[in-house]
Amino acid sequence: MIRLALRVDRAHAEIALAELLELAPSGVEEVDHGDVVEYAVYGAPGELPSLPDVEAAVGDALVAVSTTELPDDWSERWKEFHRPLVIGPAGPERDARPQLAVRPPWEPPIGAATEVVIDPAQAFGTGAHATTRLCLELLLELAGAAGPPAARGSLLDLGCGSGVLAIAAAELGWDPVLAVDHDPLSVAATRANAAVNGVVLQARRGDLRHEPVPFAPTVLANLLRPLLLDYADALGARAQGGPDTLIASGLLVHEADEVAAAFRRHGLREQARRERGEWAALLLSR
Ligand SMILES: C[S@@+](CC[C@H](N)C(=O)[O-])C[C@H]1O[C@@H](n2cnc3c(N)ncnc32)[C@H](O)[C@@H]1O
Repeated sequence: MIRLALRVDRAHAEIALAELLELAPSGVEEVDHGDVVEYAVYGAPGELPSLPDVEAAVGDALVAVSTTELPDDWSERWKEFHRPLVIGPAGPERDARPQLAVRPPWEPPIGAATEVVIDPAQAFGTGAHATTRLCLELLLELAGAAGPPAARGSLLDLGCGSGVLAIAAAELGWDPVLAVDHDPLSVAATRANAAVNGVVLQARRGDLRHEPVPFAPTVLANLLRPLLLDYADALGARAQGGPDTLIASGLLVHEADEVAAAFRRHGLREQARRERGEWAALLLSR
């Protein structure tokens, strides 16, 4: 197993990370070194993104690249890196039962009201990335406001990765749930993870840039800015109109106004905005 590490200038780190996640959707480790941030990806020789590709993705922000061969206990250390994600409640109720947890299969149950098991060896989306976490927080908020589970209706997870959002939505009562990704490995991971979690959903391949996006009244889209803007454009071109509710994540804080405005042109208004570090997510509805 090889660890490929890129050190980038902090001022451009978030943009470099967004580009790197396109090349390494199963996740990127982040280590803070002051003015420099190190991003690392893991893989067997031949499975890692190529050096010219990562260098091109990171561009002028690149400070240094290094590769390290990992020792035999690598898989145990890697498990330490993937800790469970536990969300809410906050404030005076913080000692109450957590609302939602995402955990790897080797961690024992947390006892949260909604619990999702995701094997991080698979596609992007262990729940640990800020963009996924922000989506899950907004999804919980939506579930709280959406009345009884039986009335929630259908939901589309656009760019499903490991399926973490689709599985959480199905557990929270949305039905039917459709998960779409252009990467066949993500589709396979979503199906496998749905089975592990005992959740019924449909997962299939689809490229939002080149194919019509299926309609659902509720859409989760943890995508980067360019893909969200493409989706907003596509909504304008369709007779069926867009969803009633959209959670849009994968945005840098300074990109959120532009993306909110793009959806506003198609009748979706901002109801809530969450930020975590450099990342932002929007809850939009008609
Ligand atoms: C940031 S990840 C989000 C994964 C997961 N939904 C989560 O929140 O953890 C974005 C996902 O969008 C997918 N994606 C990228 N471009 C796409 C496209 N043109 N059409 C469909 N899916 C795409 C990627 O394969 C990746 O799985």
